[in-house]
Amino acid sequence: MAYNRNNPFNELPDLPPADFKESTAMLKHLAQASRYLGELNGLCATLPDPHPLIHTIVLQESKDSSAIENIVTTQDELYRAATEENTASHAAKEVLSYRAALYAGLEKMQTQKNLLATKTMIEIVQTIKQNASGIRSTPGPALKNAITGEVIYTPPCCEEVLREKLAALEKFINDPGASPLDPLIKMALIHYQFESIHPFADGNGRTGRILNALYLVQQELLSQPVLYLSSYFVKYKAEYYQLLRGVTESGNWHDWIMYMLTAIIQTTQLSAKKIRNTLSLMDEIEKRMKEVLGASFSHDLLELMFAMPYLKIELLEKREIAHRQTASVWLKKLTEAAILKPEKSSRTTYYINYRLMEILASD
Ligand SMILES: Nc1ncnc2c1ncn2[C@@H]1O[C@H](COP(=O)(O)OP(=O)(O)OP(=O)(O)O)[C@@H](O)[C@H]1O
Ligand SMILES: [Mg+2]
Repeated sequence: MAYNRNNPFNELPDLPPADFKESTAMLKHLAQASRYLGELNGLCATLPDPHPLIHTIVLQESKDSSAIENIVTTQDELYRAATEENTASHAAKEVLSYRAALYAGLEKMQTQKNLLATKTMIEIVQTIKQNASGIRSTPGPALKNAITGEVIYTPPCCEEVLREKLAALEKFINDPGASPLDPLIKMALIHYQFESIHPFADGNGRTGRILNALYLVQQELLSQPVLYLSSYFVKYKAEYYQLLRGVTESGNWHDWIMYMLTAIIQTTQLSAKKIRNTLSLMDEIEKRMKEVLGASFSHDLLELMFAMPYLKIELLEKREIAHRQTASVWLKKLTEAAILKPEKSSRTTYYINYRLMEILASD
């Protein structure tokens, strides 16, 4: 039967694609992507574990991945929300849930023999959505063009079919003998497959993007989930959607895989640059803090400034880094030395590690 984008795509074939062969261009991209990824991983390996920076990079990915779904927060709002979750906007909370979902998925994978299973995917979507989502038992949702309303793709239906397809995907992900392809190419195949199965009513894009990072950790290409692909997807979103569609409609794996490899090449360089700049800022601030605070210099405070660039007195108390009085003196001195910048927001004063914020916003 000819493919019809208005009907559930129950004919979606399992991976790997039949007769798939890497092209020369693809192999070139692959070599470069692997090299940059290795460099990024090497850089992360030099950081003590757990390092506040990892948490910050993961939050950046969470922000951009959520932005694809039009859950938009500003950098400032988000980092303020990380300090003060109660008063955060809905969007900022959803971004924080995304980060929580990534870590929940990682933990689940690591405690379950390093397997990425359907139940892990369900746990991820539940944590993103903060509800009891599960595999769809109803048809749809068809993916539509946001402007014209035209149906772009109708995912398979329903629960039994979805579970079968997920089981096949699970096997492809976890069984090294399932395919001899390179893990980076497999990651591109897996992302397409997961999105095409579209097992949930909502949150498929975000769950699928979390799986990318977890898969690279599973494959030991990254020791931390520092993949920042979504910054590329946000920038080239039309192509992201168009190329997924191209695989379904015309079997164009080549352009899709090239897109994903390019995304890896560009975003690993971006992450590495941000990490290097942050590390040198951390060194510089450590020296300045020692001058300003003298014997009362606190390494915990330094770390907190990089994990949570929006500081407030109560946070230092809560983290048991200092009592109120000392915390207030420290933050005042660091502000006078222009290491932190104060910002009043209703009843709270935040002390911002503004230079870190500049690095995070850079591209
Ligand atoms: N033609 C297509 N075929 C398969 N999957 C697609 C296609 N076009 C887009 N997608 C995927 O579907 C996702 C949207 O699905 P859904 O709304 O369930 O996810 P979300 O997490 O709520 O949103 P978003 O992915 O936009 O953040 C896209 O992000 C993309 O990954
Ligand atoms: Mg959605």
